[in-house]
Amino acid sequence: MDSQDKKIFKIENLEEYKKWISQQNWYQTIHLKNGLITKGKLNTHSRIQWFDRFNFLDKTVLDIGCNSGQYSMYAKKSGASSVTGLDVNKNRIYQAKMLALNEDIDVNFHIAGIDQAKSFGKFDIVICIAVVTEVENVLMALRSIRDTTNKTAILEMDLARPLIYASSNKDWWKKDSKVSRLGRVAEMHRHKHAGWVIHPSLEMVLEIFGDDFELSFLGKGLRYHKIVLSRKQ
Ligand SMILES: C[S@@+](CC[C@H](N)C(=O)[O-])C[C@H]1O[C@@H](n2cnc3c(N)ncnc32)[C@H](O)[C@@H]1O
Repeated sequence: MDSQDKKIFKIENLEEYKKWISQQNWYQTIHLKNGLITKGKLNTHSRIQWFDRFNFLDKTVLDIGCNSGQYSMYAKKSGASSVTGLDVNKNRIYQAKMLALNEDIDVNFHIAGIDQAKSFGKFDIVICIAVVTEVENVLMALRSIRDTTNKTAILEMDLARPLIYASSNKDWWKKDSKVSRLGRVAEMHRHKHAGWVIHPSLEMVLEIFGDDFELSFLGKGLRYHKIVLSRKQ
């Protein structure tokens, strides 16, 4: 599954490490040892406050679309028993592996897509932030998260939130016990990098996860909406 062509190596000299960090292009703003910070495009560090509310102690964790590994490393530092991070972008996995090695944090990073997540097994906590909204097949992505989640899924994604909608579908008025009429509305959006993507309704998300899960909608996150799905006891 992995084909990591760049060498992963330990940088013993602090100045050399700083130089390596400054030469990289970062999306995530990661607070590292010795007061070093990656110059990310987005202040993703602000999400750490939210993650602080979850108990990672002795949990197995999967971070889908992990980018340079910020949340994976945070989960491990917070006491997770094992952490796996997946991303389709080779260079992000290179950065994640370099940081984990140089920060002495034990995380398993792999080049893999959300569609392959199931092959890594099931995890107590699955983190999937700002990924589902950038994947063409949103329903597959949500099912993939559901199928890998033992206890809790932490998501940030965009949603359709129709107030009023009229469909041309003649069956529009038929009842659906799980999803209300407005809840059956999804929106198509053109994403800057991903092309056309679908924003489902919150009810669709809940229906895909099924009756075994409880959904908490936590409002606006850094980019999209914060949603937590917890398996019922
Ligand atoms: C907007 S970034 C979010 C990164 C990180 N989760 C965060 O919130 O800081 C989206 C990430 O998802 C990755 N990605 C895109 N499509 C993916 C897919 N099908 N499976 C797994 N990762 C994917 C991208 O490479 C990128 O690192």
